[in-house]
Amino acid sequence: MENSKLINEDGKISHKEQFAIDVLTGLCSSPKQLPSKYFYDDIGSDIFQKITNHDDYYLTRTEFEILSKFKNDIPDYVEEDEIDIIELGAGDGHKSQLILQGFLNKGKRVNYYPIDISSEAMDQLKKTITPHENLMINGIVAEYLMGLRFLRKKSKNKQIVLFLGSNIGNFDRVQNQAFLRQLWNSLNTDDLVLIGFDLKKSVPILTTAYNDSAGLTRDFNLNLLHRINTELGGNFDLNKFDHFGCYNPVLGAMQSYLISNEPQKVYIGEIQRSFLFDASEPIHLEHSFKYLRSDISYLCEQTGFSLENNFADDNEYFIDSLWKVAKGV
Ligand code: AVI
Repeated sequence: MENSKLINEDGKISHKEQFAIDVLTGLCSSPKQLPSKYFYDDIGSDIFQKITNHDDYYLTRTEFEILSKFKNDIPDYVEEDEIDIIELGAGDGHKSQLILQGFLNKGKRVNYYPIDISSEAMDQLKKTITPHENLMINGIVAEYLMGLRFLRKKSKNKQIVLFLGSNIGNFDRVQNQAFLRQLWNSLNTDDLVLIGFDLKKSVPILTTAYNDSAGLTRDFNLNLLHRINTELGGNFDLNKFDHFGCYNPVLGAMQSYLISNEPQKVYIGEIQRSFLFDASEPIHLEHSFKYLRSDISYLCEQTGFSLENNFADDNEYFIDSLWKVAKGV
């Protein structure tokens, strides 16, 4: 790749060029890998919504059950009459609606700022949220931390940040500490965060969720190769890769791979080079970390928060953990 192609006129690297660099870096690694953050173009976000509605993927319905049960308890942690609710990666908004409803039921004024990288997801979200005289909605299409930085300058209200859906599970242990510290840094003391953690559980339940019977998870992973084809001029043949999802008990994470089913060479135009794949060679795409209650308390304390409550379902499949920002202690 020529250096002159990497930089825009304003000196910044464009999204497309960053994508090309990340693909180049990932496919030159051993084992090969591609970052899961690139799953979520409009097609990927749409497939992900379908996964969340599939019976095999227990996470979303379990979290929905938790929030339905506890939605009127969460506002008890907020004394103020007006609050900013900031949601990182809001999805289709069905879970968000429950939380908003809880605050509105208690007569609070709510400024809701969903932040999502996908404009399509944002449009879908706006259709789900029911208008209310005390609710102001202001969607932000951006990466999470950029959106938070923008908001910090804009508002002086008490903030509660929602990071639901086990999105934190897609960060490894180093990334999640770094992310939570940045989140902490962007908030004021006594602000709140509500984070969705998927709990460790029996392996067949986990592997079924990430190898769903409709093949949606397979399509979700293959869409990343499709993106490389359409956005970076690649010639991946999607029929020559199989999806494989397995649980690694040592890491405590589900791992997703695409496995080359024959020896092959793939050319990517924007990168101006080919990549060779052996038969059975994997590309690692995603980690979905699973937690124990003790992991959650440890992470909370390590990153400068205090644990207010863990809201769990009866099967102990999932926890929405409410943390308070502790500063100056
Ligand atoms: C977005 N994230 C929490 C999902 C997960 O469970 O790790 C992404 C996903 N990957 C495969 N299925 C769902």
